[in-house]
Amino acid sequence: MKFSISIIASLLSTTLALPVKLSNSTSNSTNSQEIVGFSDDFMKTWTDVTYPTIENCNATQIKLINKYYEDLLEVASIARSHLINEGVDEAFEHWFGDDGNPLTVLGVIDNIVEGKKDGALYRCDDIEGSCASHPTTWPGYHRVNASQETVICDLFFTSKKPIEDMCVIGNITDVGPKKFAGIDLFHRFLHIDSINKGFIAEYVEEKDELVEYAENNSSFAVINTDNILYYLAETYALELTPGGCLGDYDALSK
Ligand SMILES: *[C@@H]1O[C@H](CO)[C@@H](O)[C@H](O)[C@H]1NC(C)=O
Ligand SMILES: *[C@@H]1O[C@H](CO)[C@@H](O)[C@H](O)[C@H]1NC(C)=O
Ligand SMILES: *[C@@H]1O[C@H](CO)[C@@H](O)[C@H](O)[C@H]1NC(C)=O
Ligand SMILES: *[C@@H]1O[C@H](CO)[C@@H](O)[C@H](O)[C@H]1NC(C)=O
Ligand SMILES: *[C@@H]1O[C@H](CO)[C@@H](O)[C@H](O)[C@H]1NC(C)=O
Ligand SMILES: *[C@@H]1O[C@H](CO)[C@@H](O)[C@H](O)[C@H]1NC(C)=O
Ligand SMILES: *[C@@H]1O[C@H](CO)[C@@H](O)[C@H](O)[C@H]1NC(C)=O
Repeated sequence: MKFSISIIASLLSTTLALPVKLSNSTSNSTNSQEIVGFSDDFMKTWTDVTYPTIENCNATQIKLINKYYEDLLEVASIARSHLINEGVDEAFEHWFGDDGNPLTVLGVIDNIVEGKKDGALYRCDDIEGSCASHPTTWPGYHRVNASQETVICDLFFTSKKPIEDMCVIGNITDVGPKKFAGIDLFHRFLHIDSINKGFIAEYVEEKDELVEYAENNSSFAVINTDNILYYLAETYALELTPGGCLGDYDALSK
């Protein structure tokens, strides 16, 4: 199913409730910087955003999932325009090297947002009991025999952060991209076969291996989940604040 009534309905209502855009005439800020970029314009990047269905989640959880889905779209939109406008820049080289294919990364982003999500489901009912058996370690999991179904555990809601916390709770290399709920949801789609299409996977996950992929294995870096997630986080941070908040990149390979 392309659209879930519940997520669309709630998404529309959250969209209407997005923060009021400040302009010179309505704000009395102490500096003269204009507030730009962080409006709901990211909703216009794609015409056919697809959504998973939400099942067995309560009102609080649905509200948070909708908010975090918007985070996913905002992060993806910013990474996408960064990629198109900057191409193989320093942020790109950090995660994909200087000979990684930028168009592969572009395709991954578009495919996550607009690709068919038939059968993709977020459920909060811990149907296989794995949240309960891993209460402090598993924010979510994919069902053993229905991997397109993502079970979201209570730990997801208590440990993941809204994208507004980027650069506030620490540098990216310290907290990791999956600390942000929207990026974590992006990563969960890449576990679904119909979305990763057999190409994108978690080939390596250790920080030093990600750096090694970027430096010595670009063709795998561009299809490795965590390399893509770090790029999303770094480009978002660069949009958020001059210089971003990547942290100590060189220390990653030590
Ligand atoms: C805000 O003020 C600046 C400087 O006066 C001006 O260049 C800019 O266009 C104004 N922005 C808006 C949204 O009115
Ligand atoms: C901005 O400051 C002016 C002058 O101090 C004041 O008259 C006005 O009400 C303020 N506007 C807002 C939106 O706070
Ligand atoms: C939804 O479930 C969570 C986790 O079990 C709980 O903390 C929260 O209070 C529930 N919200 C509602 C509205 O029932
Ligand atoms: C998954 O399917 C296999 C084979 O049908 C079955 O043996 C197994 O119990 C199933 N696992 C779960 C968690 O449902
Ligand atoms: C890349 O490969 C070279 C040659 O094998 C090696 O010296 C270097 O340490 C590798 N880079 C990383 C980041 O592992
Ligand atoms: C790149 O990574 C893949 C998968 O881990 C591995 O099979 C391949 O040998 C690596 N290539 C190089 C040049 O290290
Ligand atoms: C974050 O990284 C910057 C340099 O990019 C560094 O100056 C700062 O100390 C780091 N902050 C933390 C909390 O590690």
